[in-house]
Amino acid sequence: MLRVSKGEFQQVKDEKQIERDFVVIQSHSMRYPIGIFKTQNSDYLASLMQCTHRGCELNIGGGIFNCPCHGSEFDPSGRVLEGPAEENLKSFEITADNENIYVHVS
Ligand code: FES
Repeated sequence: MLRVSKGEFQQVKDEKQIERDFVVIQSHSMRYPIGIFKTQNSDYLASLMQCTHRGCELNIGGGIFNCPCHGSEFDPSGRVLEGPAEENLKSFEITADNENIYVHVS
């Protein structure tokens, strides 16, 4: 299980506190990073950033995951938006308390 502070979703820019809609974490036990999106309802969604087409590492931003290799796109919950990938991303269960979220990687 990986613990991520909810504070990771806050960032100070030009002396203003802004909310980030995603963070990327890396666990040394996994070859690919995990992207975590925070939704408008303050739910959290975590997916492995490994493209299900041919395995390239995905980018995250603009509210989606996208693949630099052949252009597949996935929504914040890991569902395919745009091929050639056909399978959704591997996603992880998340639990939370007041301060942290916990990504259940195994
Ligand atoms: S490896 Fe991602 S689209 Fe081909």
